[in-house]
Amino acid sequence: MRSEYCGALNTSFIDQTVTLCGWVDRRRDHGGVIFIDLRDRDGIVQVVFDPDGEENFALADKVRSEYVLQVTGRVRARNDATVNKNMPTGEIEVYGTELTILNSAETPPFPLNEHNTVGEDVRLKYRYLDLRRQDMQNNLRIRSKVTTAIRNYLDENGFLDIETPILTRATPEGARDYLVPSRTHESKFFALPQSPQLFKQLLMVSGFDRYYQIAKCFRDEDLRADRQPEFTQIDIETSFMNEEEIMSVTQDMISRIFSQYMGVELGDFPRMPYAEAMAKYGSDKPDLRIPLELVDIKDLMTEVDFKVFSGPANDPKGRIAALKIEGGNDKLTRKQIDEYTKFVGIYGAKGLAYIKVNDKSDLENGLQSPIVKFLPNDVRGAILERVGAQDGDIIFFGADKATIVSESLGALRCKLGEDLDLYTCEWAPLWVVDFPMFEETETGWTSLHHPFTAPSCSPQELKENPGNALSVAYDMVLNGTELGGGSIRIHDPKMQQTVFEVLGIDEDEQQEKFGFLLDALQYGAPPHGGLAFGLDRLIMLMTNSDSIRDVIAFPKTQTAACVMTDAPGQVSRKQLRELNIKLAEKSSDSKQA
Ligand code: AMO
Ligand code: AMP
Repeated sequence: MRSEYCGALNTSFIDQTVTLCGWVDRRRDHGGVIFIDLRDRDGIVQVVFDPDGEENFALADKVRSEYVLQVTGRVRARNDATVNKNMPTGEIEVYGTELTILNSAETPPFPLNEHNTVGEDVRLKYRYLDLRRQDMQNNLRIRSKVTTAIRNYLDENGFLDIETPILTRATPEGARDYLVPSRTHESKFFALPQSPQLFKQLLMVSGFDRYYQIAKCFRDEDLRADRQPEFTQIDIETSFMNEEEIMSVTQDMISRIFSQYMGVELGDFPRMPYAEAMAKYGSDKPDLRIPLELVDIKDLMTEVDFKVFSGPANDPKGRIAALKIEGGNDKLTRKQIDEYTKFVGIYGAKGLAYIKVNDKSDLENGLQSPIVKFLPNDVRGAILERVGAQDGDIIFFGADKATIVSESLGALRCKLGEDLDLYTCEWAPLWVVDFPMFEETETGWTSLHHPFTAPSCSPQELKENPGNALSVAYDMVLNGTELGGGSIRIHDPKMQQTVFEVLGIDEDEQQEKFGFLLDALQYGAPPHGGLAFGLDRLIMLMTNSDSIRDVIAFPKTQTAACVMTDAPGQVSRKQLRELNIKLAEKSSDSKQA
């Protein structure tokens, strides 16, 4: 039906006759001449109809925004006065000689070139229209190109693309499962995979050596800008490769993508132990574009007569940290400090103490702060020295359980970086390594990564001191986003059982849930390891999008729903009967169709 894409036309087509198909982006009537901006996936071109072509002119008069047209015409140069430098096709136009209206359209619920004025819910309800917009077209096009480049890279490096099941058993990646009831096995449920973790390990036992999959994963967890209930991983597993080799090949892959599609050289990725990341940045995914660092001052506060500080100072699980902003005295108003106090409250902080350093040589009167009155001069001096304060600086403080202080000041660090535009570079990749195997929760030990991650100690040491054990795990972080994570896996059934024991999974449960894995590990499992990247997050960063929703064609809302198809939806009584499911009386879903 067409000879060219609209956006492909340029001066080299002058005097050629072309046939275009597309949507009416805009139609203008300029005193007897009708201009139609015709849009397709490649761009927009101006088409002109004048009254000489009577029939076409009458038709062109009828078209409205988003009508679908087929146009044949001759490409001609625009005169100097009408050249539009802002438009890639702005040096030419098409003089229309034939026009067919392929379809009409209702007025769209929002203008497709001014999306910022409409709420995301409206965009998502009419996603098929939202996706017509140029930036959404670009995002999905980059996604397609990058996915292809990744496939090519992995294919060239000997990785095989192997699909794994979607209807499966629970895979423990730390989120809730999406469950699917079985009709043929009464009272039983499949779980949708949180990742292909166990299957990819089994493929290593099968000898495939190098596996990858662009895999859909499903996690019922609290959603954020970088989390969707259904998302895509670039999932990788290898045999006979150690962590250095795995990090090297995956780093090379990401670096090449950035170089090829963004013209960005990411350079060397520094390595940072988890403990250092938490201490300096309060986060296991530090944004290294921001030069601010947390400084621990717990030891200075054990004796002070100020409960807010002395409490955590004398609590083994407590942390007190300071965050200095150079020259922050002038940059931050009282109102902003109040806003930051509210902000850290989101992360459970009970307050945000601060000291404004007016004159560091005058410890008595040179510090402006709601807390210095509680601190003796020697402590004031010691704080200033520890953080290297100068006149004009502001120092923020967090005091609480270590997790709260790290999370709240870590988040404040990122917010200050953004608000005060403190970024020192555009891209800051790194590997975070030496993660603890476990973290302690109210219910006991849980895995920091997943229970199949290999520790860097013996089973005996693991059992004796689970809190001290480190894992052979690595996360790739870019600009404060965890782009991917992986580990060397346990390939020894004894070690796997020890980890299950530490996690409080008894032998019956081990057999019931992971019997197939423990069996497989007994039949010559090779040493293996891998990693998975979040494809959506990668594309979000590459397109500078605020949310992964902007790089997914049909994403879910914050409440994990699809407003376009109205999913999840109710099902008929008949379907429920077949599945042997009875809804509880009070459930609002019980009004069955
Ligand atoms: P992990 O749980 O760290 O590891 O996930 C790997 C990567 O997937 C992305 N990701 C998400 N993206 C969007 N929405 C979500 N809800 C979401 N959850 C995770 C992140 C993350 O770094 N099986 C292991 C990998 C392995 O050990 O090989 C796993 O799934 O970018
Ligand atoms: P208060 O004595 O509770 O009025 O607090 C005095 C100052 O300490 C205020 O500036 C509070 O914002 C701050 N503050 C209170 N609790 C904490 C905390 N847990 N961490 C840091 N600062 C706090």
